[in-house]
Amino acid sequence: MRFTVAIDGPAASGKGTISRALAAHFGLAHLDTGLLYRAVAMKAGDPVAAARGLSAADLARDDLRTLEAGEAASRVAALPEVRAALTDFQRDFARREGGAVLDGRDIGTVICPEAEVKLFVTASPETRAQRRWQEAGTGSYDEVLAQVRARDARDMGRADAPLRPAGDAVLLDTTELSISEAVAQAQALVAARLPR
Ligand code: DC
Repeated sequence: MRFTVAIDGPAASGKGTISRALAAHFGLAHLDTGLLYRAVAMKAGDPVAAARGLSAADLARDDLRTLEAGEAASRVAALPEVRAALTDFQRDFARREGGAVLDGRDIGTVICPEAEVKLFVTASPETRAQRRWQEAGTGSYDEVLAQVRARDARDMGRADAPLRPAGDAVLLDTTELSISEAVAQAQALVAARLPR
């Protein structure tokens, strides 16, 4: 079975949590594509060479989830050669036998426009900043909000594969939803489209 669930959305929208839950529930493979860009950004030297030579060890680093790595990833992700170097791996993953969930910024628009399910997960910038700030447990909320807005602007404003919903994506706004409510809505959508 080939079955792709493409989940896009801005930072801290809940797309990672939803993707993991969907993959576990339906027995699908999961790829957090943000991790690829984070690994490229944290590798020393030229980012294009880093993307072309990305290894499993690069993806296993324990500093990829930091705020700094996210910021740096957003910068290298604007380079078309970096994106091009990561495309085939993501496309192959998306169409692997057994089905897959991929989350990122351009999965439904560029990597897998033929995905059987496309979800665009969003939440207000204030809610996303609140989540990030609570996770971090330190620092100032206003600073986190400014970072969230700056990252949105960069990810949505770049020329190559900007963050935007595919025309046929289902929008899921998690601003007023609990995690379990958001996961339940996403699960219902996937269940309705899974081949029987
Ligand atoms: O989802 P994340 O926060 O781990 O992503 C980090 C950055 O990587 C994000 O700000 C933009 C970039 N990214 C991208 O351009 N395309 C993707 N498919 C995934 C991430």
